[in-house]
Amino acid sequence: MTVAHTALRLVLLGPPGAGKGTQAKALEERFGVRQISTGDILRANVAAGTVLGAQAKAFMDAGKLVTDDVIIAMMEAELAGRDSFLLDGFPRTVAQAVALDDLLGRIERPLTGVLLFEADRDTLFARLTGRWTNPRTGRTYHAEFNPPKAVGIDDEDGGPLVQRKDDTADVVGKRLETYELETTPLVQYYGSRDSFARVNALAPIDVVSAEIDRAIESRAGAK
Ligand code: AP5
Repeated sequence: MTVAHTALRLVLLGPPGAGKGTQAKALEERFGVRQISTGDILRANVAAGTVLGAQAKAFMDAGKLVTDDVIIAMMEAELAGRDSFLLDGFPRTVAQAVALDDLLGRIERPLTGVLLFEADRDTLFARLTGRWTNPRTGRTYHAEFNPPKAVGIDDEDGGPLVQRKDDTADVVGKRLETYELETTPLVQYYGSRDSFARVNALAPIDVVSAEIDRAIESRAGAK
C-alpha cells in the first residue's frame, strides 16, 4: 500500500550488506518514492558497456570506490527535477556529501532524513555471501534469511537471480574496509542534524521497516 506523504528526500547510509537496498525497495512500495541506487546504476552501465561503466568496472570489481568526480556528475543528472528520492549508496565520501548539500541547497530541497543502518561485520559477511540479486531490478534475496519462493527465480518478475561478482569473501572484506575508511566519516558529518537517525539493521526485515517508518514520521515530516 502506498502511503500519502510530504516530499521525502532520504539518504540510506550504512555498510555493504546492512539492508539498504532491501529497505529501499520496501520504501518505494510503501511511500511511492523512487530509489536511486548508485550501485545499480553503475552495474547497468557496466552491463551495457557504456563509457561510465568502463570507468567504474575496475573499482567495483576490486571493492574500491569509483572516483568522486564521476559519481557526482552522474548523481547531478539523476537528481535533476526530482522532489522526492531515496538515495541508496550515495553519498559515500565527505566530498560527495558536500556536493549533495550544494546541489540540494541550490534547488532549495534539503534532505528530510538520513538513516544510518548499523550491523556487525559477521552479519554483513553472512548476508553478502548468501545474497541473490535480480540484475534487472536490483531486488535482492538471501539463501537463508530471505529466500525466494523458487530457488534462483525472482518472486516479483520471474527473472533469474544471480550472485554479484563483488559478493565473494575477498571482495566483501575489501568493501567493508573501504566503508570504514571512506564512508564512516559521514556519521560525524550528518550525526548532529535533526534529520539523522540510527536504525538497528540486525533486526528481521519487517522490524527494520517498522523502525524506519517511525524515524521517517518523527524526523522527515511524513503524514
Ligand atoms: P552498492 O551496490 O551500493 O553496494 P553496497 O553499498 O556495498 O551495498 P549492498 O548492495 O552490497 O548492500 P545493501 O545494504 O543494499 O544490502 P541488501 O539490502 O542487498 O555498490 C557497489 C559498488 O559500486 C561499490 O563497491 C563501489 O565500487 C561502487 N559505488 C556505488 N556507489 C558509489 C559511490 N557513491 N561512490 C563511489 N563508488 C560507488 O542486503 C544484503 C543481503 O542481506 C540480502 O541478501 C538481503 O536479502 C539480506 N537482508 C537484508 N536485510 C536483512 C535483515 N534485516 N535480516 C536478514 N537479512 C537481510
